[in-house]
Amino acid sequence: VWLPVECGRSGKTGDTGVPGEGRMAYSYGNHEVYRYWSNGLKCDRVKRVSKKEIYMKTEIVKIDEEQIDQEAIARAGEILKRGGLVAFPTETVYGIGANGLNSDAVKKIFIAKGRASDNPLILHVSSIKMVDSIAKDITPLERQLMEAFFPGPLTIILKRKDNVPDIVTASLDTVGIRMPSNKIAHDLIELASVPIAAPSANISGRPSGTNINDIFEELNNKVDYIIDGGDTDIGLESTVIRVINNVIHILRPGKITKKDLEKYAKVEIDSHVLGDIKNNEKVLSPGMKYKHYAPNTKCILVYSDDKEKMYNKIKSLEDTNTIVICNSSNVSNYKKAIPYGYTEEEISHNIFKILREIDKKEASLVIIEGVKEEGLGLAIMNRLIRACSHNYIKI
Ligand code: TXA
Ligand code: MG
Repeated sequence: VWLPVECGRSGKTGDTGVPGEGRMAYSYGNHEVYRYWSNGLKCDRVKRVSKKEIYMKTEIVKIDEEQIDQEAIARAGEILKRGGLVAFPTETVYGIGANGLNSDAVKKIFIAKGRASDNPLILHVSSIKMVDSIAKDITPLERQLMEAFFPGPLTIILKRKDNVPDIVTASLDTVGIRMPSNKIAHDLIELASVPIAAPSANISGRPSGTNINDIFEELNNKVDYIIDGGDTDIGLESTVIRVINNVIHILRPGKITKKDLEKYAKVEIDSHVLGDIKNNEKVLSPGMKYKHYAPNTKCILVYSDDKEKMYNKIKSLEDTNTIVICNSSNVSNYKKAIPYGYTEEEISHNIFKILREIDKKEASLVIIEGVKEEGLGLAIMNRLIRACSHNYIKI
């Protein structure tokens, strides 16, 4: 089935072409993807391609958070409005954004990432008014939490309104909502004037992108526009919570910790934050089910509250072709080591970049020093356990 798109004219399903710029445009019909070359106002069908093959010419623009280039960001907002994809920085990790109320636009995110369709996306907002346009039955505690932590690295799962497309929520009756504090992200959402669906900017299963090199490597020719806003601040994705009967459940730990949330209500950490998932077990957040952050090289995580015990265990696993990823103060303990920083903040900032590069080292085994499963350390361990496919020695 041939789905005609008049390349270069905006407003048509799937059209990401821009008049006169000779850019690539595509559309889908009956799960098939067609690729067009839009050249001025003339549009020729090139060939039918598989979803994997689709690509576009990506524009990359550097924007300084402290001095935002209004023209560049307005253009990104325009692309989002029109149904295109924009990779943008937030204070946690980069996101791949699309108009969150446009199913066709959101569908492109799933294709670009190779993401499972039962894994819902977070909608990013720039105001509480926008929250109220997509969520309902918000309780006083949920409002209090938004007042306390928005804008910032918190995602709250709320009851969704009917205008939120099924593709965003994977047909759940809830929707994840987050208001980023990064100014570029904030201005972009405001200019697009719709909630922006945005998962972390990485191919599904890979560590999330936190710097422009990783974003470029992963998304060049897969999105319309990339905003280079430098390295992201925190480096790990937002804390995901859901309030059930006035108890806050942490579904994914992040920079906003159990202790931060305990000022407002009782907090429970979901058992899957550190634990594995048994076959067919029901989970509160679909993202928990998926393989995440794992390099191709075999990784093992080692931790003990007794540091000597941890060093000795790691040393017993080392050989000439292993690499240890460890605290910067422990590098001299090991044969071959990559430091991940001194503090939890530094580790959280650096860890995804290190995990993304580890396969290039061609080690036989990567051994990773764990940290205490508390505060931001819990978020670090949640990611490391997944990077090691639950291959975790705790002594
Ligand atoms: O920091 C972040 O949250 C980044 C930046 C870009 O904002 N975004 C991000 O999105 O990490 P993503 O899609 O990679 O992770 C979203 C997580 C997934 O684990 C998903 O399953 C869960 O949130 N989630 C989304 N909507 C949900 C819902 N309605 N109920 C339960 N879990 C939900
Ligand atoms: Mg992700």
